[in-house]
Amino acid sequence: MIKPLKFLVSAGPTREHIDPVRFITNASSGKMGLMVAESALAAGHQVRIVTGPVNLDYPEEAEVIETTTAMEMHTEIMKNFHDCDVLVMTAAVCDYRPIKTSLNKIHKSDETFILRLERNPDILLSVKRLDKNQTIIGFAAETNDVIVSARRKLEKKKMDMIIANEVGGKNYGFAVEHIKAVLLFRDGENRELGCCRKKDLAEIIINEAVRIHG
Ligand code: CTP
Repeated sequence: MIKPLKFLVSAGPTREHIDPVRFITNASSGKMGLMVAESALAAGHQVRIVTGPVNLDYPEEAEVIETTTAMEMHTEIMKNFHDCDVLVMTAAVCDYRPIKTSLNKIHKSDETFILRLERNPDILLSVKRLDKNQTIIGFAAETNDVIVSARRKLEKKKMDMIIANEVGGKNYGFAVEHIKAVLLFRDGENRELGCCRKKDLAEIIINEAVRIHG
């Protein structure tokens, strides 16, 4: 019998509005987060999901908190982090948001249009582990220098494990069934998984989370 853990899973993209009908976002579908949540539930854990805008049916057994922007996702993760054993950040958080969101639809005028953006907070950099044992897992979607970039992120954001995955290929990455993944650990180990199903990767992540959490 495993000891049930409390998983906090972020999923999907965030959406940063320019005006009421336009926004900046990315290609994340939320599928990886969904599968992490399903695997955790199947292994008998508790799951709370903080999701960006997605077109998915999350399991009924999971508690789902809906957000739109990176700022909202930041607020909800900060609010719920104290109550989790394991945080899995699968969300593709937009790094920037428009400095100003227009209340009304913007009509075209000049030939060029300059949109000024400001940085969103980094959620993983903001969370601080409490006295209790908490495990932090993140993702790094990269097009190049996959391992080097992922290890830099793992160290900077003090994660226990990061899943580096290559995006930009045709058959793996965002919004498809497969992912080309390498697991990187705090002790310097890199474990190549090759091209695998997101569902299988999700199971591996849950097993590793339980092992790391101890
Ligand atoms: N992340 C986060 N808050 C952000 C951006 C990213 O918590 N504002 C998390 C992601 O959920 C992911 C990890 O940090 O688990 C790495 O995200 P990624 O977008 O790959 O990297 P960045 O930290 O944004 O770095 P860069 O812009 O250099 O790619």
